[in-house]
Amino acid sequence: MTTYTSSWIRAYTNIALIKYWGKADEALKLPKNNSISLTLDSFYTDTHVQFDSRFTADTLTIDGQGQDQNGAALKKAKIILDLVREIAQVDYNAKITSLNYVPTAAGLASSASGLAALAGAASNALELNLSDTDLSRLARRGSGSASRSIFGGFVEWEKGDSDVTSVAKPLDDANWDIGMLFIILDSRQKAVSSSEGMSRTVATSVFYPAWLETIELDLADMRQAIKDQSIQQVGEIAERNALKMHGTNLGANPPFTYWSAESLRAMEHVRQLRQEGYNVYFTMDAGPNVKLIGTYQELKEIKEHLSKYYDPAQLILAQPGPGLTVLPEHVHADITPN
Ligand code: ADP
Ligand code: DP6
Repeated sequence: MTTYTSSWIRAYTNIALIKYWGKADEALKLPKNNSISLTLDSFYTDTHVQFDSRFTADTLTIDGQGQDQNGAALKKAKIILDLVREIAQVDYNAKITSLNYVPTAAGLASSASGLAALAGAASNALELNLSDTDLSRLARRGSGSASRSIFGGFVEWEKGDSDVTSVAKPLDDANWDIGMLFIILDSRQKAVSSSEGMSRTVATSVFYPAWLETIELDLADMRQAIKDQSIQQVGEIAERNALKMHGTNLGANPPFTYWSAESLRAMEHVRQLRQEGYNVYFTMDAGPNVKLIGTYQELKEIKEHLSKYYDPAQLILAQPGPGLTVLPEHVHADITPN
């Protein structure tokens, strides 16, 4: 019997300020455009991987729930397992045990933290000693946005034109006053996954060419706004970019939207808060939840203000978070498989 066991690895979610929306290569998950994100401290995934000669199949458990052998989650996880097995020249099956401190598949970026943590844990188990850049490549193969969760702070995923060149890089450590306030409107699984949504949009949306025509300008403006540590600029550009991304979905065939009536109401709150003098903006991903961007100080006040309309559990504040982290042995010791 041979067994290789990882430490528990934590990856934090990231939210894109300039969105990744569309693939140039579906299999390699090469994106059509660069994206820029902020890694956050409030939502994360902890993952443990064990490869063992006695296992008869790969298995994945998320929050104690075994995932379907033919299901999408295990299929994505296997992409990463197969890549590390190939590098290490090991052909044992794996048992993945994962804990999501983030709602799964609700547009809160569980795929980013989930697949980044898996890339870290699977390579840790087989002692591959990969660089952060190689971990970013590996995580990308599981889910594009996961490539950015290897790093903390502001991160840019360079689209590249091959498996080797499509990697994320740290942009700024975000050691200044910026935060996000999540308004969780619906944490159920969404109807159109991000992969499906973006591929339908690339293939059919009459607005998609306009997205690509303006993306370089958005990226350049965002890099400058981050350098200037300007909440107003970061917020305005992020809000514009998110609305444009969601606009492309309306031009798809069949058209679709991730917005609900509640999302529109939350956007209206943000506009109202701006009129009252707050320097606050929003972004949205592949789900109805709305994320506010502002200084952490102001967002704390805004959270108070919004508690008139939302349950406390729906409002979650986040600050910039770190990159991939190896957890000390005592964490999850009670459930660590042996
Ligand atoms: P989200 O908005 O949460 O990122 P997606 O539909 O893009 O939603 O991704 C959700 C998918 O990410 C899940 O169906 C599963 O395939 C994968 N995923 C989420 N959490 C984990 C995890 N902890 N370990 C492995 N895969 C995960
Ligand atoms: C709207 O990374 O989940 O959150 O690569 O197909 O797994 P796949 O997609 P995924 O898409 C994220 C889309 C987004 C924007 C972003 O995070 O940049």
